Amino acid sequence: MSIPILDLKTQYRTIRQEIQTAIEQVLESGQLILGPNVRALEQEIASWCGGGHGIGLASGTDALRLAMDALGIGPGDEVITTPFTFIATANTISRAGATPVFVDIDPKTFNINPFQIEPAITERTKAILPVHLFGQPADMGAIMELAMRYHLLVIEDSAQALGATFRGQPVCSFGQIGCLSFYPTKNLGAYGDGGMAITRDGEIADRLRVLRQHGGRIKYHHERLGYNSRLDELQAAILRVKLRHLAEWTSARQRIAAQYDQLLADLPVTTPYRSPEVTHVYHQYTIRAPRRDELQAFLQKRGIGTMVYYPLPLHLQPMYAHLGVPEGSLPEAERAAKEVLSLPIYPELTEEQVQTVAEAIREFYG
Ligand SMILES: Cc1ncc(COP(=O)(O)O)c(C=O)c1O
Repeated sequence: MSIPILDLKTQYRTIRQEIQTAIEQVLESGQLILGPNVRALEQEIASWCGGGHGIGLASGTDALRLAMDALGIGPGDEVITTPFTFIATANTISRAGATPVFVDIDPKTFNINPFQIEPAITERTKAILPVHLFGQPADMGAIMELAMRYHLLVIEDSAQALGATFRGQPVCSFGQIGCLSFYPTKNLGAYGDGGMAITRDGEIADRLRVLRQHGGRIKYHHERLGYNSRLDELQAAILRVKLRHLAEWTSARQRIAAQYDQLLADLPVTTPYRSPEVTHVYHQYTIRAPRRDELQAFLQKRGIGTMVYYPLPLHLQPMYAHLGVPEGSLPEAERAAKEVLSLPIYPELTEEQVQTVAEAIREFYG
């Protein structure tokens, strides 16, 4: 029996009736763009993030892109971020005309290392963009302290971390804007693309709402250069159904992570470190593994799906060659890229399946 890295079909079967009812209601209503489900979801998600405003957008990438715009980040500005993340974290900085400045990660958490941020701050630095990678919040205590001291903006890339907290405070509630993705594989995933920006600042919320609708609030009147970036009503209705299950699904992920921790403890792999200051929502369960590629191939032969998030740090991507950050300059991100392996984790994964994965890893290391 194969164990995929992610199984969306099994989840769908558990909520099929609720989803079909929600879809049917939207289709019957005829209201497909910015209707009651988007408005309700914006409030529901904002309250998961400790309050403020939610602005439903077309994707997590757009949430980052519109955040840059709403905060006035553009040509001449630098934004400090992590090289060990999905490309959208940085290409949205570049799209805005600003420059991403990559600093190394904390090898324990895989998140941006606050100690590396301060030396990278220049008079051009406008913002810090931490990513709460794999579902574990970055060190927001140290990051907010730096932001305060140097008067920098903070955008949180919370694409992988809805529901996670740092010192009891939810992600998306620290910086000026928090960005969420509802890409289908996320802990709260749509059946298509979707995203949301979260902010406690009413003016920023207003700017984001204007930006997502061609830069206008009244039809055919445009006050600024905008985008077409709206979360679909249909996706919002689907996400509202799934949100009702998110707390329970997150607990299941945490239970599975604890089971892996125990079963892998005596093997040569390094299980994920969890900071005592956070709740981790385990979007991924990512180990460091000696002979990583061989292990991955071995598991693949057993029908066990795994993924390498991420095989090439962003400063080494061809698209960022012009930044001139050579190999060897961000050693922890580079080492992580060579060692990490994400194992199957999703709420429907059974105890037996987790055991099967762990036993296969044990067998590989013989
Ligand atoms: C860390 C991170 N940032 C940004 C994104 C972009 O989100 P989306 O795929 O919804 O555009 C993703 C997910 O794909 C992500 O994992």
